Amino acid sequence: MNNIDKKVYIETYGCQMNVYDSELALSILKDDGYERTENIEDANLILVNTCSIRDNAEQRIWGRVNKFHAEKRKNKDVIIGILGCMAERLKDKLLAHRDISLVLGPDNYRDLPRLLEALDNNNKQMSTDLSKEETYSDIIPVRTDKNGVSAYISIMRGCNNYCTYCVVPYTRGVERSRDPQSIINEAKDLFNKGYKEVNLLGQNVNSYIWMDPKNTSNTVDFSQLLEMVALIDPKLRVRFSTSHPKDMKNSVLYTIAMYPNICNHIHLPVQSGSTRILKKMHRIYTREQYLERIAKIKEVLPTAGITTDIITGFCSETEEDHKETLSLMEEVKYDWSFMFQYSERPGTMAAGRFPDDVSPETKARRLNEIIELQTKLSMESNKKDVGKKFEVLVEGFSKKSDKELSGRTSENKVCVFPAGNYKPGDYVNVLVESCTSATLIGTPIK
Ligand code: 5AD
Ligand code: SF4
Repeated sequence: MNNIDKKVYIETYGCQMNVYDSELALSILKDDGYERTENIEDANLILVNTCSIRDNAEQRIWGRVNKFHAEKRKNKDVIIGILGCMAERLKDKLLAHRDISLVLGPDNYRDLPRLLEALDNNNKQMSTDLSKEETYSDIIPVRTDKNGVSAYISIMRGCNNYCTYCVVPYTRGVERSRDPQSIINEAKDLFNKGYKEVNLLGQNVNSYIWMDPKNTSNTVDFSQLLEMVALIDPKLRVRFSTSHPKDMKNSVLYTIAMYPNICNHIHLPVQSGSTRILKKMHRIYTREQYLERIAKIKEVLPTAGITTDIITGFCSETEEDHKETLSLMEEVKYDWSFMFQYSERPGTMAAGRFPDDVSPETKARRLNEIIELQTKLSMESNKKDVGKKFEVLVEGFSKKSDKELSGRTSENKVCVFPAGNYKPGDYVNVLVESCTSATLIGTPIK
């Protein structure tokens, strides 16, 4: 193929890590002469970076892939490739699809140029071997964010926790940490390009550990890494996700307290408020141990934003268990939660051992109760911020109006205010005057 003809269109589903991985894939393709297009009609390579976390994510992607048949009819030479977790999980099943000719798992993006070339001789190519070492540390991603303010940096890959409901350890392989120097270089490069915020990503950032291969007693853990990134510049905000409660060490909290540019926000997925369910989920903490971590966060970082993930209707969950989740939410007073119905994933331990026995109606009803409670808690939390001043990093215009800007507080709350002469990337002090359950509304002050 002529370099001039090489145009790639990419669609990304799922988590922040997938956004980052798409940026890695684009970088590898750029070195191979590909140019990114946001118009599917112009592309001769269509990639879909996929998510397997819940069945509805996969169903949505299958629906989307079937729609690509129209592109194939318009241009029979267009190559359709599947990347990410579904590629890893479903392998041949995807490759057998009439329109799909390329399947690459999360550890195989370096194979993209080779497989694209091999497609000239064979109309189907696949690479899905999981790696114990790949961290793509030497690749500088092609950024796809719209605002040029906030970017992701992957600090580790994979997961060793094997929560019984979760497909991630099977699709993303074992945990491995990336060389800290390459992380610092990437963050510095972003800051020099005008970015004001980096979000350090991993499935379980608290277990980040780097060992110098030349001297294994020389190590860097997550709180040290956090400090190294924070020291790049006080005007570079640092965020991170996701933390696992079992590994959330006090040293991380003290590091956050020491550096104003490390955001005052912790995402600490609880999944359930019932110790019996937590055990079945293989979360390795009890309700009490989780609440002890929350108490410590509130002691060291009294104003921190605290958010969580909750799964409702996990195998054998009773009304009592569900009530324990509701009461835990009340006790922690989360600022925000991501809430899901349990979705059985083939191949996981829960799928093999425990019947998916909570009815769809009960799951839906419990999810609604949880959402209702969270909306109330978010409203209460936001009301407490009315009358207070926050430093907001502007990300762009608000969804509703181009006369209003939207950004985030250090606590990760969305805040909108009249645009004036401010622009994306500015730090603006905003006095909060009112709120909804999702947004703080204010005016800039000196
Ligand atoms: N069903 C529903 N939610 C799930 N999650 C992970 N696996 C499942 C599943 N099988 C949720 C968890 C996790 C978040 C990323 O997705 O809450 O923290
Ligand atoms: Fe899945 Fe648990 Fe790993 Fe998170 S920590 S990715 S929920 S196995």
